[in-house]
Amino acid sequence: MNKVITFTVNPALDKSTSVKGMKPHSKLRCAEPVVEPGGGGVNISKVIKELGSDSLCTYLAGGPTGLQLKNLLSSANILQQIVGIEGWTRENIAITDNATGLQYRFGMPGPKVIEQEWRQSLVHLEGILMEGDYLVASGSLPPGVPDDFYRNLAYLAKAKGVRFILDTHGEPLRLGVEAGVFMLKPNLAELSTLCGVERLDFPELEVNARKFMEDAQCEIMVVSLGPQGALLVTAEQSERIIAPTVKTKSTIGAGDSMMAGMVQYLSLGKSYREMARYGVACGTAATMTPGTQLCRKEDVETLYRWINAHPGNKKAIRTDS
Ligand SMILES: Nc1ncnc2c1ncn2[C@@H]1O[C@H](COP(=O)(O)OP(=O)(O)OP(=O)(O)O)[C@@H](O)[C@H]1O
Ligand SMILES: [Mg+2]
Repeated sequence: MNKVITFTVNPALDKSTSVKGMKPHSKLRCAEPVVEPGGGGVNISKVIKELGSDSLCTYLAGGPTGLQLKNLLSSANILQQIVGIEGWTRENIAITDNATGLQYRFGMPGPKVIEQEWRQSLVHLEGILMEGDYLVASGSLPPGVPDDFYRNLAYLAKAKGVRFILDTHGEPLRLGVEAGVFMLKPNLAELSTLCGVERLDFPELEVNARKFMEDAQCEIMVVSLGPQGALLVTAEQSERIIAPTVKTKSTIGAGDSMMAGMVQYLSLGKSYREMARYGVACGTAATMTPGTQLCRKEDVETLYRWINAHPGNKKAIRTDS
């Protein structure tokens, strides 16, 4: 099994609570908050643990909130390495209005990270990465970290013979892919950013994904399509994976769960087709849990069996992977 290292530049403590009726100008009495570790790569490490494997969770953190994040991950038995920063790790808040069932999510920008600190994180990764590892960088960049940060990371991964997987959006994504990446999992909006177009519609997806992959160095692309599943594209094959219909409770964490399932399957040496199908099972399983909860292994296994029994639109040129 190849080692998986997740990397989160802007992790968070995700706090969730509920209130009976959201009203302005009044003191709202909230229920006891639940506090969980969060941020793209951190979520991916949590799901990989749930699925029965280990990853090394690396991230930048500081202050009492950073310490709390570390303690929560330790309690979950997740291997971690931290690059310390002066600023305090951010706290995000999600509040569910019990009167309407609607959830309000407030995301903070994150602490200011100075140049010395983000450079130190690259030095740290350079010291631990080994040839053949999978490095998954996921999430937004906090203030102070330049938009081309992930491009620097991609160059580093390339020099080390590490397979780099990137899940972010906007300018950091556009610049991040310039150095080449092993795998991308864009949603429709992110694929539009990569292709430099305003929006993309379904029939043009595969053509655009392929064109992007020819121009940029990218071995695998899995375009995630929300309730419509995903499209796997490699040089040799393409496959549409239909997401099973489930009773959706919350779509929060669907993308991270999907990514975690795919990376776990890659590290176990599964084929790209198995990887993409398992990813869709994980993403859809995440929608079956309430609030910020990620996927449960039990649901993943049931959905994965369903997907294999109901294959989507296969167009594989080569079927051995
Ligand atoms: N409503 C839904 N019903 C069934 N499956 C879903 C639904 N929404 C998402 N999924 C599953 O989760 C996967 C990832 O979802 P999506 O395409 O929304 O990713 P994303 O935009 O990266 O999400 P996120 O907002 O979590 O980053 C999909 O491929 C699908 O398998
Ligand atoms: Mg996403």
